Amino acid sequence: MKEILLELEERRAGARLGGGAARIEAQHKLGKLTARERIDVLLDEGSFEEYGMYVEHRATDFGMADKKVAGDGVVTGWGTVNGRPIYVFAKDFTVFGGSLSEAHAEKICKLQDMALKAGVPIVGLYDAGGARIQEGVAALGGYAEVFQRNVMASGVIPQISVIMGPCAGGDVYSPAMTDFIFMVRGTSYMFVTGPDVVKTVTNETVTAEDLGGASVHTTRSAIADGAYDNDVEALIDLRRLLGYLPLSNRDPVPAIDASDAPQRVEMSLDRLIPDSANKPYDIKELILKVADEGEFFEIQRDFAKNIVTGFGRIDGSSVGFVANQPMVLAGVLDSDASRKAARFVRFCDCFNIPIVTFVDVPGFLPGTAQEYGGLIKHGAKLLFAYAEATVPKITVITRKAYGGAYDVMASKHLRGDINYAWPTAQIAVMGAKGAVEIIYRKEAGDPDAIAARTKEYEARFMSPFVAAERGYIDEVIMPHATRRRVARALNLLRRKQLSNPWKKHDNIPL
Ligand code: HXC
Repeated sequence: MKEILLELEERRAGARLGGGAARIEAQHKLGKLTARERIDVLLDEGSFEEYGMYVEHRATDFGMADKKVAGDGVVTGWGTVNGRPIYVFAKDFTVFGGSLSEAHAEKICKLQDMALKAGVPIVGLYDAGGARIQEGVAALGGYAEVFQRNVMASGVIPQISVIMGPCAGGDVYSPAMTDFIFMVRGTSYMFVTGPDVVKTVTNETVTAEDLGGASVHTTRSAIADGAYDNDVEALIDLRRLLGYLPLSNRDPVPAIDASDAPQRVEMSLDRLIPDSANKPYDIKELILKVADEGEFFEIQRDFAKNIVTGFGRIDGSSVGFVANQPMVLAGVLDSDASRKAARFVRFCDCFNIPIVTFVDVPGFLPGTAQEYGGLIKHGAKLLFAYAEATVPKITVITRKAYGGAYDVMASKHLRGDINYAWPTAQIAVMGAKGAVEIIYRKEAGDPDAIAARTKEYEARFMSPFVAAERGYIDEVIMPHATRRRVARALNLLRRKQLSNPWKKHDNIPL
């Protein structure tokens, strides 16, 4: 008996060594942790239970029959984060470069099936060289099996990917279909085809970092939602993010005991809006002052900064914040901001996370670049996302809500549940200057007349009251009372019930 137990220990120890000490050292030299070390940082101490530790590939071509490593390049299992379960798989770069074989894919698929059945989030840690070249179509088939499960799980359980090394070829599409992607600066990159193929096909010379590093994907392509300086920082912050998310779409939004009183007033908010309507202010100040303990987990911080998205808590429960940012492009809605916020709104709606929207938006960005780039369809994405969302939607207009952007930003007409405005709100078709220039074009040569018309327009329309008179605004509130008002509204809406007509699925303008 003792020998049998010893043999198990030996097999376990062998599997834990992955590709061997030399490859582990090489991994460390690059500043990267190994797959198992990463899992240890991510999960609560001692909570990891590994499955599939002894799985080996079945390939025989190219001398592969003699090259077998227990686990086959991916570590799979489950554990807890702050006591809540998650499934996790981590690609082991020390084994065949973390490449995906048929058996490797089966391990991931098994985990995806378990996670979906149990209603528990799944996290993938990537550090891999794509399809196992020696396996050919068996590896391609394996990828597609993983992709299919990503799609089935989408909107049912949170799926999160962290890129911590190479992520190329077939490896990119599974993360692309998950809810969030995070990257590690300097050591991770994602691309469909690498620099060598790019050179051959397009004759462009580009480094891996410039083609698909963390900076590219967090600032330009918006493929990634955040970047970190090293593995540990990324994993610790992922623990924080998981704390905001329900385990599945049938699980309640997590709530913690809040020590921050929901009725807290913030007198400084009465001074947030500058005297001049064209002067910027930082909308994040409002978010931080409204959220519990001033804690905010920002999503896509470095992309389309004219809109801010992220998670916080109010009275202990998770909420999603969406806010125009007057500090960047005056908070205008452009294509990038629209698709960034649309995706975030849809995530919140999938997982029953209430949405709090702060509005200060001068409209959609004019110009050929925007129109040629598909502003109409991108803008429609955000409109569509807000309109289809059935979660509680609380809106606060702080200053400008002009034109179509007023409609889009969780207006009453898109089933906003509670729509507040600050006394400084200006809800109108457009700014006074632009409006007067159009409707009084004939008086353009007379500056005094134009000034008088502008004053007249401002007095009538540049306030929240025209909208409030029509019931589009439920109440004009004091800025300092915003947290209290939003907290009360969220509490009221806890039992909200709203469903959309039956359909196979909608046809959001992609
Ligand atoms: C098998 C692989 C491998 C792969 C790496 N290795 N990638 N083995 N299949 N795809 C092995 C290497 O042979 C090596 O083994 C070990 O992993 C480490 O690789 P190195 O090249 O030494 O490491 P490094 O210099 O850091 O380069 C990492 C890399 C490079 C950039 C990822 O390995 C690379 O370019 N790999 C191939 C990438 C690729 O073209 N993949 C296929 C994409 S096509 P030894 O034993 O020497 O240590 C694809 C299509 C799927 O994925 C489409 C589905 C939709």
